[in-house]
Amino acid sequence: MANPSLLILAGDGIGPEVMAEVKKIIGWLGAKRGVTFDVTEDLVGGCAYDAHGTPLHDDTMAKAMEVDAVLLGAVGGPKYDNLDFSVKPERGLLRLRKEMDLFSNLRPAQCFDALADFSSLKKEVVAGLDIVIVRELTSGVYFGEPRGIFPDNEGGRFGVNTQRYTTDEIRRVARSAFELAKRRNNKVCSMEKANVMESGILWREEVQWVHDNEYPEVELTHMYADNGAMQLVRWPKQFDVIVTDNLFGDLLSDCAAMLTGSLGMLPSASLGAPMANGRPRAMYEPVHGSAPDIAGQGKANPIACILSLAMALRYSYDMGDEATRVEKAVEKVLADGVRTADLMGPEGGSPVSTSGMGDAIVTALDASL
Ligand code: NAI
Ligand code: MG
Repeated sequence: MANPSLLILAGDGIGPEVMAEVKKIIGWLGAKRGVTFDVTEDLVGGCAYDAHGTPLHDDTMAKAMEVDAVLLGAVGGPKYDNLDFSVKPERGLLRLRKEMDLFSNLRPAQCFDALADFSSLKKEVVAGLDIVIVRELTSGVYFGEPRGIFPDNEGGRFGVNTQRYTTDEIRRVARSAFELAKRRNNKVCSMEKANVMESGILWREEVQWVHDNEYPEVELTHMYADNGAMQLVRWPKQFDVIVTDNLFGDLLSDCAAMLTGSLGMLPSASLGAPMANGRPRAMYEPVHGSAPDIAGQGKANPIACILSLAMALRYSYDMGDEATRVEKAVEKVLADGVRTADLMGPEGGSPVSTSGMGDAIVTALDASL
């Protein structure tokens, strides 16, 4: 059988720096676990614009459609701020998401005990937290028509955006959430505003339909999204998998992410329809951007990107054991007090560099054998 394939798009700024540490983990998996990936590397974002005049070359797009998974670093930076909208680095990322049709965005919020003091909430509220928000990513009010700013009849203007969801769009993201729940704790909470929005009523009915017809064994509850926001900061551990639309998911996932500390810790997965191998088309990436303020200084925390690889191991390669091994290694180095600068309080200390963190994780992986 062919090796599993991976396309690495490191991108701009700290993207290549954190990706260098991910490659150490991939190398370790090959050397110590006999798991060999066919890795291809290519350009996305500003670096692709510099090379080809476009933030995503057609050849790169074609490769992304062929591989088992894509792992992306970050794109953008001040150098590219004045480019025309059509060739901005972010357009490369958006094209990947759109053409791969990645409708389901998984954002875990996991609190490593060693970092519980870092949260803006009390330690007992967040310690041990491990939830995932599934956000619908390709429809809803960010895409619905009509949209625009129009003149009204009194010489003023009005702005319009349309929250529009079809049955199929709701059902497919619901399935993605139920599939995830089956791998976790068989529990899904769906959030909308069915009390004030018709699209929310349809959302609730269709999620319930998928549950009743396809996943009756998974526990399903419904919650209004405003209450959901409140409950997330009151007692987040009541949740396991949350599924919600694009707009509410944007807000709720950022809110949940910050329960756990630094942007440098947060991975994500964006999943599409199943491919020929039965697994979803997928792109994995850290939540953070290219961090121009620290790029080139060896200060970036590579954990978000390394945990993104762990998600790929779990969801694209059916290597849940190896994924857990990587996550445990991260947990161990944090428990040992290894910290990049972003994980230190104002009182400071002596942080490790990006590569120091990567090396410490590899050492912890060795110790796991
Ligand atoms: P950012 O996430 O790049 O940085 C925000 C702050 O967090 C900065 O102070 C940065 O130093 C820090 N930070 C981020 N990741 C870190 C890490 N791994 N370790 C330590 N500290 C980290 O967001 P910002 O500053 O709004 O955007 C910078 C550039 O990145 C812009 O060009 C923006 O368009 C782009 N961007 C790209 C994204 C992507 O590729 N998915 C997402 C967000 C922004
Ligand atoms: Mg956001």
